[in-house]
Amino acid sequence: MKIRYLALFAPIIFVACATRTVDEAPYDPLQDYEEVDAATILDAPEPIPGTFSPENLYQVKRGEYLVELLGCGACHTDGALEGVPDFDKALAGSSIGIAFSSPLNNARPGIIFAPNLTPDEDTGIGLWSDPQIESALRIGVGRHSGRKIAIMPWQGYTKMAPEDVSAIVAYLRSIKPVSHKVPDEVQVGEETDKPFVYFGVYRSHNEE
Ligand code: HEC
Repeated sequence: MKIRYLALFAPIIFVACATRTVDEAPYDPLQDYEEVDAATILDAPEPIPGTFSPENLYQVKRGEYLVELLGCGACHTDGALEGVPDFDKALAGSSIGIAFSSPLNNARPGIIFAPNLTPDEDTGIGLWSDPQIESALRIGVGRHSGRKIAIMPWQGYTKMAPEDVSAIVAYLRSIKPVSHKVPDEVQVGEETDKPFVYFGVYRSHNEE
């Protein structure tokens, strides 16, 4: 019985092996796939006393609450995308990237790294004006002029009440500055050994 089964499947196994050697075989992202549990709910770090006035304490606390609720740290904290957030670098940017091109088309996708949101002047948003931070959040204008912010769901923040946006900005200015430069963006097709995850919805371009 077993031998008969083997005889039946042997040609199929052979065909399967043969097709895998063809160069034009479409890239199968599942070959490199390893499921990870991203950390989505993260405590936002405490504001540092002295970085805000007693008058805007409520605003800063509200910002902390919103940042926690909206899961900013899930992308902007190192390690969170692999389920092991580094709380010493909370909101200081991620060295694990997120692919912005389709895994179905590109074996080497383009990758971006959620930047440092702490008030550090060199690597964070310390030198950004309030309107610059607000524009990044509400209309997706980031450091890269000429294109909209990718991956971050800013479209969902567009309708946020202005007081809430200001509260987030006030909060981000109140946390500990952490010097942490995230890696530069990786272009589609560029070779890299930087770690990254896939994220997003991909649509086929086939006309049929
Ligand atoms: C799903 C992941 C994700 C979430 C959630 C997220 N971001 Fe982002 N954010 C990114 C990425 C990735 C970029 C860089 C995008 C780019 O360069 O195109 C970015 C860019 C930014 C920028 C522009 C900074 C710069 O240096 O260009 C700000 C400000 C920002 N995010 C704040 C926030 C805040 C505040 C929240 C929560 C309300 C948040 N983000 C939630 C992924 C995320």
